[in-house]
Amino acid sequence: MSIRNLDDLLAEGVSGRRVLVRADLNVPLDKQTGDITDDGRIRAVLPTLGALVQAGARVVVCSHLGRPKGTPEPQFSLRPVAGRLGELLGAPVHFAADTVGDSARSTVDGLADGQVAVLENLRFNKGETSKDDAERGAFAEQLAALGEAYVDDAFGAVHRKHASVYDVPARLPHFAGRLVLREVEVLSKLTGEPQRPYVVVLGGSKVSDKLAVIEALLPKVDRLLIGGGMCFTFLKAQGLEVGSSLLEEEMVETCRNLMEREPGKIMLPVDVVAAVAFAPDAEHDTVRVDGIPSKRVGLDIGPETVAGFAAALEQARTVFWNGPMGVFEMAAFANGTRGVAEAIAKSGAFSVVGGGDSAAAVRTLGLDESSFGHISTGGGASLEYLEGKTLPGIAALEN
Ligand code: 3PG
Ligand code: MG
Repeated sequence: MSIRNLDDLLAEGVSGRRVLVRADLNVPLDKQTGDITDDGRIRAVLPTLGALVQAGARVVVCSHLGRPKGTPEPQFSLRPVAGRLGELLGAPVHFAADTVGDSARSTVDGLADGQVAVLENLRFNKGETSKDDAERGAFAEQLAALGEAYVDDAFGAVHRKHASVYDVPARLPHFAGRLVLREVEVLSKLTGEPQRPYVVVLGGSKVSDKLAVIEALLPKVDRLLIGGGMCFTFLKAQGLEVGSSLLEEEMVETCRNLMEREPGKIMLPVDVVAAVAFAPDAEHDTVRVDGIPSKRVGLDIGPETVAGFAAALEQARTVFWNGPMGVFEMAAFANGTRGVAEAIAKSGAFSVVGGGDSAAAVRTLGLDESSFGHISTGGGASLEYLEGKTLPGIAALEN
C-alpha cells in the first residue's frame, strides 16, 4: 500500500501551511435537546488534529453531520460540535457559517499558525454527495482551495464516494491521518489470518443492510451469532412465528439459504424479550422463540441466549461485533446488548467493535472501552472493509 500518512506530511513541515482535514464528526445527537450524546468520534480525531496544531499548521476541519439533502438545515449545524472540539483540544476553535463561501474563506484567511477552524456541514452543499462527477468535482475544487494539503481522518466515511472523501484528494497532496491508519491496520488483521476460533456477532435491524457482510464473512468465521431486529427474519426462516417483530418477508428465503449453506455456523436466539409495544415502559416478558405471542414485538434477546452467546465468545480468539442486540436505548431492552458486550470484554480474544451504534452502546452503557481491542469509528465503513470492497476514500489516498 503506497499511502503517505500524517508523519510524512509533518516531516515536510507544516508550520504556516493550511491543512484541510476531513474528519467524521457525525456524532449522535439527542432528538429533543440536540445535545451530543456520544463524543467518541470527536475524541478519535484529536491525535491527528493535536499533531497538526503542535506543528503550527493552520488546520481547516470539514465533516458531515446527519443526512441533510444539499441545503442548510439548522438541526444539522456543526457549530455545537466545533464547540465540543474546542473543549477537548483546550483551545478555541473558529467556526465558519458556510462550507466554501465567504465565511469559510475569511475564517480560513484569519487563522494564525496552530489554530483550528471547523467548516459548516459538507452536506449543506449538493456537490458533496452528488452522483454527477462534474458537480462533485466543482464542489471539490472550492473545498480544495481552502487547503494546501489534505489529510483524511474520516474513517467512518471512507466508503462514500463523496467530494470531500474522493475528489478533494485528487486535487491536493494527500495523507492518511492517524485514525484512518489505525483502523485499516486493525481491520486488516481480520481480513488476513485471524486467530481461531473467529466469532462474529451481528445485530441491528435489517438483514438487507448486513447481507453482503454475512455473505463475505460466513465462509471465514467459525461462528456467526445473530441478534437484534434482524434475528426475527432468520427465526421466520426456521419456520417460527415472530408476532409483530421486525420482519423482512422478502429476505426469508435468503436467510434460509444462508443457514443451509453452512449448517451449524449461524447461532440464533433461543429466547427473546417480547413487549406489547415499542415503548420504554411497555409491558414485556421473556419468551421462548417458539412461543412469541402474535401481538408482541421482540425488542431484545433473552438471558438464555446471552448465556449461549457468552459461551461461544469465551472460546473465541478473535471477535468482531457490529450492531446492538436489542433496543439498548431503552433500559428495559438493553440487557442483551450489555450482556454480549460484557462477554466480549471478558473474553481473552482480540476484539473489534465496529460501528457507530455498537461503539456508542459500549460507551453509553458505561462499559470500559479499554477492555476491547479496538473500537472502530466506522459502521458501514468497517463492514464494507470486511466485505473486501474497494473503499473510495482509501483508493483516493493510494493514488
Ligand atoms: C456513519 O455514521 O456511518 C458515517 O458518519 C457515515 O454517514 P452516512 O452513512 O450518512 O454516510
Ligand atoms: Mg451509518
